[in-house]
Formats: sequence, structure tokens, C-alpha cells
Amino acid sequence: MKASQSNIEQKKIAFDVQAIRTQFPILSRKVNDQNLIYFDNAATAQKPQCVIDAISDYYSRYNANIHRGIHTLAEEATLAYEASRHAVQEFIGAAAVEEIIFSRGTTEGINLVAYTWGRQNIGPGDEILISGMEHHSNIVPWQILCQEKAAVLKVIPVLDNGELSMEDYRLLLTEKTKLVAIVQVSNALGTVNPVKEMIELAHQFGAKVLVDAAQSAVHLDINVQDLDCDFFAFSGHKLYAPTGIGVLYGKKQLLEQMPVFQGGGEMIKEVSFELTTYNDLPYKYEAGTPNIADTIALKTALDFIKSIGKDQIRKHENELLDYATAQLENIPELQIIGQAKEKVSLISFVLKNMHPHDVGVLLDHQGIALRTGHHCTQPLMKRFGIPGTIRASFALYNTKEEIDLLVAGLYKSIKMLS
Ligand code: ALA
Repeated sequence: MKASQSNIEQKKIAFDVQAIRTQFPILSRKVNDQNLIYFDNAATAQKPQCVIDAISDYYSRYNANIHRGIHTLAEEATLAYEASRHAVQEFIGAAAVEEIIFSRGTTEGINLVAYTWGRQNIGPGDEILISGMEHHSNIVPWQILCQEKAAVLKVIPVLDNGELSMEDYRLLLTEKTKLVAIVQVSNALGTVNPVKEMIELAHQFGAKVLVDAAQSAVHLDINVQDLDCDFFAFSGHKLYAPTGIGVLYGKKQLLEQMPVFQGGGEMIKEVSFELTTYNDLPYKYEAGTPNIADTIALKTALDFIKSIGKDQIRKHENELLDYATAQLENIPELQIIGQAKEKVSLISFVLKNMHPHDVGVLLDHQGIALRTGHHCTQPLMKRFGIPGTIRASFALYNTKEEIDLLVAGLYKSIKMLS
């Protein structure tokens, strides 16, 4: 074990939700004269003080462009930026630091693969396999690619309980399948998909696999080598880091063979009007001045998670999920959408004869923030024959008392809307 690792292990403390809450300044604010209850974590998680401080510290003390200057500030900024890349490598268990490419978020990571690997490797009649529970970010880039290349987009159906039909998946995989692009955890249902098994099956047909980890990276233990995925994309802001910073992991050999994405500074080795040669990984895919402050703060967020321990966080979140599921199931008008055997701490539901949006507005009046609507998964909503759901998604700072207040708030809303 490295010295830095053992320090973090030593610093790991017993899970104390009240102590954790004090680290998130926003949790002490009031909304509509009520204490804020934040259950919209699947949209974006709140930020601990250490992450807020990391951004301010960068701008106050060592704001400079990276990889360019030889002055002290530039060196400090470069070191901090690259330290974040190493932290990400460790967080997802990548074999090499060059496999970590910083992006704006999951969407940009997926688009990068579609525009580079996709344009190089997909041709007429090839098939791309996605699932019926994909976020629009993992549908539209492949649709655009298929239209351009006369390729075919195929969809793995979703079962009534919110799990994927693995039987259909096996049947859909053929020699024509060139890519499987699959979400690890559904943002609308909370379903945890068996991606390891799906990757193994896809590889038997020579297909590559991209994992949309936007929702999973914060909740599950991730090891990209163990998963053996070819690409893995996630966003920082759902794991307590700032918005505007994300990660695309790709197997080194694939990234090396792929064409460049955006042209500009940093991604080049040499430029002349006749010919440009491109930089090595990962810089080949990081054109222009990157989001330095937020990349640095991403490491702070990962250190924060590590100091508490993903195992402890998962345990707490699972308790919240079980508790909330039991409480919500007691409400006669309420139907949970998505009851997969394996879920993260996210519950989508509808209330009989009530529009999710109306319920969301009434809950907001009571200080409760959650997301209502289609959750950028319109085909999935269509599959369940609903316009949208009310979604409560829990994070490490949420409590059972807050869930009780949600239940009370729902009863109140039902009374007002009936
Ligand atoms: N994809 C994010 C969500 O599910 C924004 O809310």
C-alpha cells in the first residue's frame, strides 16, 4: 500500500451522518421557510466545504495555465491537475494514467467515442446495441452515428420490474454487433445492470463496450480492469465534485488507434501549415485550456469519498433505500416504477391521477427538492406508459428523518391534489 493510501485508511472514520452533514454548507439553508431536504442527488450532488475551498484555493493562490508555463504558479497548477488524473486512475482501477481523459462530463465522453472510435469503426449494416433504459446522452450520439453510417441501432428491452431482459440481450448480440453502449445504473429507475456479464458476452462477439457510469461511479465500487469495459464515462458533479468536469476512460490500445476529436492547443506535437502531428495520450484528447479548477476539485471530492469509505456510504444509502421503499409502499395512491433486485438509492414513483410536476411543486413549497419528469429517458417513460415520475435520490448526507418528512409531504400533496 502506498503511503498516501495508508494515510487515508487511517483517517477513515466511523460513519456519522450528522457530522457529514455539517460539511455541506447548503444543507443548512432554508427553502420556502423550511429546512432544505435535498433528494435530487441523481441530478447533481451537493458539495462539501473542502471541494468549495479547493476551487477558491486554486483561484486565490495558484491560478495559472497548465503544461505551458515554466513559472512557479504554472508548475503548481500542473502538478495539482495531474494529481487529479492519478486520483481518478486509482478511483476506477485503470491500468495506466494515460487512459484517463478529462471531459466536461458523461455526455461529452460518450460523444467523444461516437465521433472518433465510432466514425472510424462503424460502417453500413453494423449494429450498435443500447438498452431501453438509456439516458438521452447514450441514445442520441449513436443515433446520429447510425444515420451517418447507415448502421443500425438496436435496443435491449426493459422488463416490467425495471431490469433488462438478458434473454433478449443474448439474442440481439450477433457478429454484426460492433458496440454495446450500456448504462450501469439507470438514472430513472435505479436499476443496477449486470454490466460485467454483459461485457463478457459482448466480447465473445468481438463487440466493444462503453459503460455510461454517470449514476454508478458515486454508488458502486468501480474497477474498469475487472469489468474489462473498453470505455467508461462519468461526471464529477454527481460525486460531490463541481459541474463541468468529467472523465472518459478508454483502454490505452483503443485510444491510441482512434483519430483525434477536437483540434487546438495541447493536443498537438508539432504544427505546420502542411502537416500537424498529434500529442500522446491523454493530451491528444484534451484540446484547449481545460477546466483546471474543477479538475483539481475533483480530486478533493474523490479524497472526501475515500476518507469516509465507499463501503460505509453504500451501507448507509442502502438503508435509506430500504427504509424509503417500505414507507412509500404504504401510501395507497403510490406506485414505484422500477423494482429491480439490485438498485442504488433512488426511487421513482407515480401517484394515481396526479401529474408528477404538480407533486414536485407542492413538495418544493415544503422545502423538499426532487426531480419530476421524464429524467431525459423519454423512451423509458413511453415503455411504462407514463409521462414521467417523481424521483427521490439519496446521498450520503440524507437521513431517515428526511424520508419521514417526504412521506408526510406526499400525504399533504395528495390531500391538496385530490
Ligand atoms: N441525468 C441527470 C438526472 O438524471 C441530470 O437527473
